[in-house]
Amino acid sequence: MSKKSSHQMWGGRFDQAPDDIMVQINASIDVDKRLYKQDIRGSIAHVKMLGACGILTKAEARKIEKGLNKVLQEIETGKFVFKIELEDVHMNIEARLKELIGDVAGKLHTARSRNDQVVTDFRLWMKEAIVEIERHIGSLQDVLNKQTKAHKETIMPGFTHLQIAQPVTLALHLQAYADMLARDKTRFLDALERMDECPLGACALAGTSYPTDRNMTAKELGFRQPVRNTLDAVSSRDFVLEFLSACAICSSHLSRLAEELVLWSTTQFGFITLSDRFTTGSSIMPQKKNPDAAELVRGKSGRVTGNLVQMLTVMKALPLAYNKDMQEDKTAVFDSFDTLTLCLKAMSGMLSGMKVHKDRLLQDAENGYSTATDLADWLVTELGMPFRQAHHVTGKIVKLAEKQGKKLDRLSLADMRSIEKGITQDVYKALSVVHAVKRRA
Ligand code: ARG
Repeated sequence: MSKKSSHQMWGGRFDQAPDDIMVQINASIDVDKRLYKQDIRGSIAHVKMLGACGILTKAEARKIEKGLNKVLQEIETGKFVFKIELEDVHMNIEARLKELIGDVAGKLHTARSRNDQVVTDFRLWMKEAIVEIERHIGSLQDVLNKQTKAHKETIMPGFTHLQIAQPVTLALHLQAYADMLARDKTRFLDALERMDECPLGACALAGTSYPTDRNMTAKELGFRQPVRNTLDAVSSRDFVLEFLSACAICSSHLSRLAEELVLWSTTQFGFITLSDRFTTGSSIMPQKKNPDAAELVRGKSGRVTGNLVQMLTVMKALPLAYNKDMQEDKTAVFDSFDTLTLCLKAMSGMLSGMKVHKDRLLQDAENGYSTATDLADWLVTELGMPFRQAHHVTGKIVKLAEKQGKKLDRLSLADMRSIEKGITQDVYKALSVVHAVKRRA
């Protein structure tokens, strides 16, 4: 590594080259090269503004803009070589710009710092990422809505404490997830709304004495307005925390659904069969079909939550303004984005290809005395019994059914009347799961 080239951007006051370990710990290029498009877009907006404000000549600005577009093209065609000794995406791009257009490239960084540059790039990236996440959530919602429509009449046991509670429809169950996802979308949009301010022009922390126009760059980059306070602009990462938090919550919703798919596809439950396309076999047990995708969606939510905790921990007690600690934010965000979008796609695939065993669901809905609440309600409405008393009477009837090894609706009228003599034949309609579900429509 040549001493000069390694810190052509900041090496003026240094006599020695950085240690290799220093280079290693400092470099972020492997991660932040993903911001190249946003970085070039931000630089073009910046240089146009410098030209418009007379800080650079129009010709200089045009030359730099052209050079940046050339760099962009090199990156997109795979010709660009990212170098670790140039630390990050910003310096890699600027160094190549200099090779392409000469010393005038050095004027690009007038009235700017990497501190406002990186956070501008990152907000730009995240705004696009949110649009993409919304799209993936939308596709999953479509799949859920389709299954919801198909299973409006599919009766299944509803659970509390994972014990059979009351009969519900599969539609109701799946729609619950569609509604969670709808809220997840609003969480992302809400975060987007707040992050839609442009940090560019805050420079290192204190703004600049050049006559820049921050409104112009904000507008050019599609931000609502500039971030007002320059220290806040370079040092705040609450937009990162909000994004990571929205990812973690969405991911936790997916993990719950994933867990249900795992349970439902067991022999014991037998509610669904997942398609071959989203399951795997065992290398030793030939009969096995494992719900790995669902398990991984469940497991990866730990990772997405970890990214949030990581960044909350990094940001805690960090003094103003920029600190290098914050460079860690990219790993967390990219990983949460990649993981969440993958999980959303996997979930869509699993749900659209799953086979639902309606008979088994219905059969199970009839287990566990799932209409006991309906029986209690019948006692209340038909016999005018106070609910507490009805609850008690129903409990006794359930106990009797249990003793006889029967479902509630198989208990004889005489047996029920031995507990509450007001009960009539009419009670049986309350005991059917189909009826119970219909009445609560
Ligand atoms: N690579 C850095 C980051 O991601 C860019 C900002 C560096 N700023 C600085 N003052 N060294 O945070």
